[in-house]
Amino acid sequence: MREIVAGGLEAARTRTAHLTDIDEAELIAQHSPLMSSLVWDLAHIGQQEDLWLLRGGQAATQGVLAADVEKLYDAFEHPRARRVSLPLLTAREARGFLADVRGRVLDGLERADEQELFAYVMVEQHEQQHVETMLATHQLRDGEPVLGHGTPLPPGRPVPADAVLVPAGPFTMGVDVEQEPWSLDNERPAHEVDLPAFRIARVPVTNAEWQRFIDAGGYEDPAWWSPRGWEHRLEAGLERPLFWSADGSRRRFGIVEDIPADEPVQHICFFEAEAYVTWAGARLPTEQEWEKACTWDPVAGRRRRWPWGETEWTPALANLGGDALRPAPIGAYEAGASSYGVEQLIGDVWEWTSSGFDPWPGFSTMLYADYSAPFFGGDYRVLRGGAWSVGGSAIRPSFRNWDHPVRRQIFCGLRLAWDV
Ligand code: AVJ
Ligand code: FE
Repeated sequence: MREIVAGGLEAARTRTAHLTDIDEAELIAQHSPLMSSLVWDLAHIGQQEDLWLLRGGQAATQGVLAADVEKLYDAFEHPRARRVSLPLLTAREARGFLADVRGRVLDGLERADEQELFAYVMVEQHEQQHVETMLATHQLRDGEPVLGHGTPLPPGRPVPADAVLVPAGPFTMGVDVEQEPWSLDNERPAHEVDLPAFRIARVPVTNAEWQRFIDAGGYEDPAWWSPRGWEHRLEAGLERPLFWSADGSRRRFGIVEDIPADEPVQHICFFEAEAYVTWAGARLPTEQEWEKACTWDPVAGRRRRWPWGETEWTPALANLGGDALRPAPIGAYEAGASSYGVEQLIGDVWEWTSSGFDPWPGFSTMLYADYSAPFFGGDYRVLRGGAWSVGGSAIRPSFRNWDHPVRRQIFCGLRLAWDV
């Protein structure tokens, strides 16, 4: 087990190195007020690893960095837009710091017992989350492409554009440590939820479908938008997904290309998703509906570990890992379908749900006590399933992501749901 954990840490670091192995000027630049500089994310990854794995979370204990330097990497202290003006470590210093911390962490891992492994995998997941954040920064940056086109994906296939029925009844929502030892605090505990019947779309909404919404004047008609959403639509001047141009092209990691019709739409905010579903005569799923459609096996009367069953993820089952640099076409993962026949739940695009971010009944914090709790009840919507950008170890059907309803630089899309 220790070797698996060490391998996971190393895999996360390989991704970090890949995204930060670029010119120093690109690393220290503020590519968008929405994001930190890449060099901030880089050193923050090491600072968190130092805090949770070398000091057991005791922030008052001296770490590898001097206390005043370490403070620069406190995400609660410094908003993203202002991090660039702090006296941050240089890229070279940050790389040295990360390597130093990692060496000590691997020494500690050799002596760690089973109980202590959770913290290591939690830190691995934290790094994977920042890798995804850095991918969003890369996508926002102007200038010559540095990441290429992305690796090939399986082809799509025609999928009935139907709404899958999920009959009424109870299911098990969330997970316990016994089944999912690496689950984070907000995914726990497992609890029974009884849902009325609903329908959910077999696949996410595509670019072609989103284009029809644009062509139908969806961005011009307040009837489809919530009052708050319409206000934001006007103020932000929303007309189409982020990174789309009026001429039918999009910019993806610095490359301008035609918008693929059969790919799940991404880079739409919650308010746009809300307008789209209203126009389409549907609604967004709740988190509970999403998780039931993803995990419940009504024949066996129990929860599956993954939509496709108990086996671990492989690239034939879902688009994860970040190398593709884009979602896969609709129908690419027939083998990844859930017991209800719902496809592409894991990977491709984060899916907006209608749910706010709240704790499950019986919630208790983990070692990193401020990971979830400070955000409960805030102005957030939960996103589910992970995107192409997510490291394989950083997603589970119970995993809950959250963001402000105006955010669209993340790799987010949507799926329709309907009352029965
Ligand atoms: C779970 C993606 C909302 O980036 O704000 C990273 C993850 N928390 N470092 C975020 C996180 C602390 C978090 N999200
Ligand atoms: Fe962080």
